[in-house]
Amino acid sequence: TLTPVKDVLADDFRFGAAVDPRDLAAPTGDLLNQHFSQITAENHMKPEAIQPVEGQFNFDAADQLVEYAEAHGIEVYGHTFLWHGQTPAWWFTYPAGHPKAGEPLGSSAEDRQIMLDRLEAHIGAIAAHYGDRIQAWDVVNEVISDNATEVYRNSRWYQIFQGPEYISEAFRIAREQLDAVGATDVKLFINDYGTDNPAKRDNLYNLVSTMLANGVPVDGVGHQTHISLNTSISQIEASIDKFAALGVLQAVTELDVSIGAPAAGVEFPELESRLIQQGHYFKDLFAMLRQKDLESVTVWGLHDGRSWIRTEERPLEAPLVFTDDLQAKWAYWGIVDPS
Ligand code: XIL
Repeated sequence: TLTPVKDVLADDFRFGAAVDPRDLAAPTGDLLNQHFSQITAENHMKPEAIQPVEGQFNFDAADQLVEYAEAHGIEVYGHTFLWHGQTPAWWFTYPAGHPKAGEPLGSSAEDRQIMLDRLEAHIGAIAAHYGDRIQAWDVVNEVISDNATEVYRNSRWYQIFQGPEYISEAFRIAREQLDAVGATDVKLFINDYGTDNPAKRDNLYNLVSTMLANGVPVDGVGHQTHISLNTSISQIEASIDKFAALGVLQAVTELDVSIGAPAAGVEFPELESRLIQQGHYFKDLFAMLRQKDLESVTVWGLHDGRSWIRTEERPLEAPLVFTDDLQAKWAYWGIVDPS
């Protein structure tokens, strides 16, 4: 049987995977138990999953993940309290009973308060339900822009607040709600992708250092790390080093390494050589990551067949560590046996 990845990395950081309840049964559940020491809910802790209707909370799927983790000695990384994606439409409209019920919120002080009250109710319900059974949370996800002409993502959150103040508010609310249930050790992260890009990284860095200077309770930075074989490992390293100087916790939260597969129907004679190249990439990436002070490194799916990068349009994509039939790829050997 294969050496567990989590054992190889045990002195360095936890090894995580994004999962769904359907992944918990054998044989994928066995793969999870063998190799992983942490899970993130791929979808079931997002706003639309937890609170599909205002005031109606659904923890069923998330509970399955948390209970499984507890039964198997696996940690849980929470994802996510606040995001522009996978958030129900009601969140951005006036509530029932309001004269403008159902219409889009504007940016008045009253409208901002509606957003903050909702955030407090949402996080408060999650904190009450889980306490410290979930050890860390992405408080905000993807709030930095990809567009070089602006710093912050121009999301509905940003528009309603006419600026980034909602981000600090989210951390204050999260800390308050978790502390109120005694979950004072739960770590609060800001999570984003593209932190290998120096401009985007600097924008995130400035936000985090400003929040720290203002006493905003941010504990950590999550680097999603949705990358490809062309992504510069030294730029990923530069990013981790830059945030390390701030003294924050760090994690790689959503790793996948695209092999650049072509559109469906197009020949891909390079497939095997790309998979070998990917093995070398994982070797070099993990050699670097193991030198850094990281809490965890999470791959965004247990195996290639469960990756969001694998789509009908890209049926040959294979960005993860195990094949569709749960066999170790070169990527696995790159981590486990880097000789
Ligand atoms: C993705 C999931 O993997 C998909 O199943 C879903 O359809 C869309 O979201 N950044 C994030 C994750 O923070 O929540 C996203 O997950 C991938 C990009």
